[in-house]
Amino acid sequence: MSLDPDIEWLQCIGCAARHPVFEARYFCDCGNLLSLERSPGFLSRVDRGRFDSRLGNRQVLNQSGVWRFREGVLTIDDQNIVSHPEGSTRLYHRPQLSQWANVEQLHLKHEGENPTGSFKDRGMTVAMSQAMAVQAPAVACASTGNTSASLAAYAAQAGKKAVVFVPEGKISITKMVQTLAYGALCLKVEGDFDAAMGLVREACQKLGLYLLNSVNPFRIEGQKTIAWELLQDLAWDAPDWVALPAGNLGNTSAIGKALKEAFEAGWISKLPRLAAIQASTANPFYLSYQQGFSTRPKVKAETIASAIRIGDPVSFEKAKAAILYTKGVVSEVTDAELLLAKRQIDRAGIGCEPASACSLAGVKKLREQGVIHESDRVVCILTGNFLKDPDAVLAPVEGVNAVEGQMISVRPDLESVAKIMEGWL
Ligand code: F0G
Repeated sequence: MSLDPDIEWLQCIGCAARHPVFEARYFCDCGNLLSLERSPGFLSRVDRGRFDSRLGNRQVLNQSGVWRFREGVLTIDDQNIVSHPEGSTRLYHRPQLSQWANVEQLHLKHEGENPTGSFKDRGMTVAMSQAMAVQAPAVACASTGNTSASLAAYAAQAGKKAVVFVPEGKISITKMVQTLAYGALCLKVEGDFDAAMGLVREACQKLGLYLLNSVNPFRIEGQKTIAWELLQDLAWDAPDWVALPAGNLGNTSAIGKALKEAFEAGWISKLPRLAAIQASTANPFYLSYQQGFSTRPKVKAETIASAIRIGDPVSFEKAKAAILYTKGVVSEVTDAELLLAKRQIDRAGIGCEPASACSLAGVKKLREQGVIHESDRVVCILTGNFLKDPDAVLAPVEGVNAVEGQMISVRPDLESVAKIMEGWL
């Protein structure tokens, strides 16, 4: 474990003040977010071959797609690490999806294959391990459902009390049930996610709870490994674009930081551009991007993609830096567009939750606009599992749901089946 403040420290993204790693704080005194930083050149001295040599190793920490990259994640005693293990998700290529988006070299990194069904597990293993290191008595978060499920599962493993703040009636029932089943206390907040977020921040400050939302810099360190693992999947031959859904903006921040660090360390020779995609009715980041980031608007968010129904994202400044550094873009898609993309992903036999489909819907749109070129290599991040929000399959686009006409009652005799088969085969 490193207590050496010259190796890893928390640094304010605004005033650059430094704070020790083992202080349970998420904001600087000046009010800005903190970021975990390392001495310059530290990662350049880590040969990426070390990460490759851990692939296929049976040790739990090497099987984890997070701790496999531990030199760039967090210096911590093994005994404090709470790992499922997580990560090691697959990268898919499907010709029908390439054709649909008109991008030949299209890959999908399926983060829904994590233990609790979303990318949140990557950040949670690190932040929960840090909660162990600082001996936090109890952990908390606000959530649209995935963070809460992940927090509850990792808290159960760590033996910590967990409390989650969710917008009442606004999260998918399967995520709610999952969170309850793992044992967390659920506080249903009257209001939206942004209200729940404000409340949990206050509660953590005043009531001694340890905050595990993505304002916690250790969450970001874990989520960086989505990018590092996809680079490893591609034999460190960096793609031109990485596209992902954007809500509270923790993931945009994390993937941007990971790409920057990988590029500066010399693990990749080209810097991919980020494409952060919002739902058009929950689009404060897009609105800001359109104005050259000169404003920070808040919106009243409403979208079928409940995971990203967020109007005032907390990691705004970090995500802005990620877009600027990678010469990235921010785009938006309508609910109809993201549902159509989800249908394509589902019909390819992969499946994802609605928010995840923003990435593919956004890539199709950016391709049509000529921002992404046909020859570009693109990786879409699918952030959540299909089973997180199965009801969305029945949501209509232009009056028709995705499985219209697929369920037919039949009398229990062969003649009736044969009749249906006549028209169908
Ligand atoms: N996709 C899914 C499936 C999510 O659950 C989230 C965020 C995002 C995308 C957006 O990521 O917030 O880092 O920009 N879910 C959070 C939660 C808010 O509470 O589960 P982000």
